[in-house]
Amino acid sequence: MCGIVGAVAERNVVEILLEGLKRLEYRGYDSAGVALLQQDGTLSRIRRTGKVQELADAVAEGEALGTTGIAHTRWATHGGVTEKNAHPHFSPERVAVVHNGIIENYQSLRESLTSKGYTFTSDTDTETIAHTVHEELKSGCALLAAVQHSVKQFHGAYGTVIMDKEDPSRVVVARSGSPLVIGLGLGENFIASDQMALLPVTRRFIFLEEGDVAEITRREVNIFDKDGNPVERDVVESNIEHDAGDKAGYRHYMLKEIHEQPTVVRNSLQNRVDDNGLTADIFGPGADEIFRDVKHVQIIACGTSYHAGMTARYWLEQYANVSCGIEIASEFRYRKSVVHENSLLVTISQSGETADTLAALRLAKELGYMSSLTICNVPGSSLVRESDLAFMTRAGAEIGVASTKAFTTQLTAFLMLTLALGEHNGISAEDKTSIVSSLHSLPAKLEETLAITQGIEDLAEEFADKNHSLFLGRGDQYPIAMEGALKLKEISYIHAEAYASGELKHGPLALIDEEMPVIVVAPNNELLEKLKSNVEEVRARGGIMYVFADKDAAFSSDETMRVINVPHCEGPIAPIIYTIPLQLLSYYVALIKGTDVDQPRNLAKSVTVE
Ligand code: F6R
Repeated sequence: MCGIVGAVAERNVVEILLEGLKRLEYRGYDSAGVALLQQDGTLSRIRRTGKVQELADAVAEGEALGTTGIAHTRWATHGGVTEKNAHPHFSPERVAVVHNGIIENYQSLRESLTSKGYTFTSDTDTETIAHTVHEELKSGCALLAAVQHSVKQFHGAYGTVIMDKEDPSRVVVARSGSPLVIGLGLGENFIASDQMALLPVTRRFIFLEEGDVAEITRREVNIFDKDGNPVERDVVESNIEHDAGDKAGYRHYMLKEIHEQPTVVRNSLQNRVDDNGLTADIFGPGADEIFRDVKHVQIIACGTSYHAGMTARYWLEQYANVSCGIEIASEFRYRKSVVHENSLLVTISQSGETADTLAALRLAKELGYMSSLTICNVPGSSLVRESDLAFMTRAGAEIGVASTKAFTTQLTAFLMLTLALGEHNGISAEDKTSIVSSLHSLPAKLEETLAITQGIEDLAEEFADKNHSLFLGRGDQYPIAMEGALKLKEISYIHAEAYASGELKHGPLALIDEEMPVIVVAPNNELLEKLKSNVEEVRARGGIMYVFADKDAAFSSDETMRVINVPHCEGPIAPIIYTIPLQLLSYYVALIKGTDVDQPRNLAKSVTVE
């Protein structure tokens, strides 16, 4: 979702801004723009719909020079995808603004600003920020004070960066609900919505907190909290690889990230699980004390992370003997819910910035959950900072919009949580041994599973001309079927639905014909015979099936069923293993269809608006 980059330097900042935008492309956007305070004292702007490269080409045609500048990639919320709606937005000849988030009271602000003589040139909520700040500046205050007064008038979410032509030595930034990170350089400073944007110029970052307003000049960063008091925030040294943005020879980030799974799962387990089980304190200091009292787990997440949570419910109840609820964040945050006694709130998020999940965490704190844990991939993210406990998945930067390695490391984390909570709730010795030994075998099993690529490429050929598909699974494979369907929808735009296969006869069987391929995930587990009955129900109605099956599950290919053997695995790791062929299937179908695999249409990597 929208990206922000800003810089105050002695050198020309154009290349820094454009490179920053390129590094944020993975988040999803539909237009881009840059504004510069030129050395001759003028404020210039170039905006384009489409890719950052089109903006860069347009910039290259002119003489773009400026030592203070802001840039933005926009993902449309208010107003269509047009050049006039792209950021930065100006308030005549003076103020320039980029903004992530939504100003919810923009209509009333717009009416009041119009009555004061301001003319709106876009359909966006963001333009109200520019005019509001301009109006404050007119009363004679400095940019910092103007922004501090302005933000009091905004309802909603914003991460915003503002420049004033009359004061080219600084930008002022404000954060409420949309993340912003300050990058510290030598004699130059930067701002961005994501540290990835600034890695070529610095590794030292300050993560702004909710309500912060900061003034950034070449030599100074002054931060003020929501009450206007000056505050110090920690400087964090980033350990993200500078080249995390490279495709390492793969055609797409998504394929690279699918193939990274054995390595990142190994990283995720490192120093956390040994032959006897979990090593000490892997969920952070104090976690064990909290876990001792946990009687219920409430999981909250969105999208793929929600599917990880759904899988975890099967594990937590089956092995750790802990009751567990799971809910989509956008539902949880807007309904009245009952808090179970001694309930631990667990949020899951790749980005740590998903607006609905963050709002759900904040609500849960008010509701009186005993504690909160986040399972997250981004250190320093809002969920990590605002949760009592944080467990990092160590998947490394995930650039493809469709989540792959983040998901399998989330599942790995949940198996570790199952062990940790199980310790206090009577996990059996047999189950504990089975989870520990299957976790040890997991990286190698993932490698083995990735080797079945060829069969899946062939399957994708048969699949790519279909318009609809049905994914079936049972037990802890039902969420995996849901995840498989989500991946296919996201990147190939083929309509895909997932069902717990026991539900077939309650409705979806009516859909079955030769135009509706049915994908079945069939590990050799206690539900296999039940699943086989469901397969027969589909066969009897002329359905065409693609079955990902354990080689011992005794499925064989025939004219209505194509069987792809998946390596046999012991213990509860099967959902992690069966995720791989479904990811590969989506990838190869998308490849044949020629879609934008890494940045599928209409989607954003980090959903920072609700
Ligand atoms: C799908 C996908 C999304 C995210 C969802 C939540 O491939 O990536 O469904 O899982 O937007 O995002 P996070 O995990 O960052 O909270």
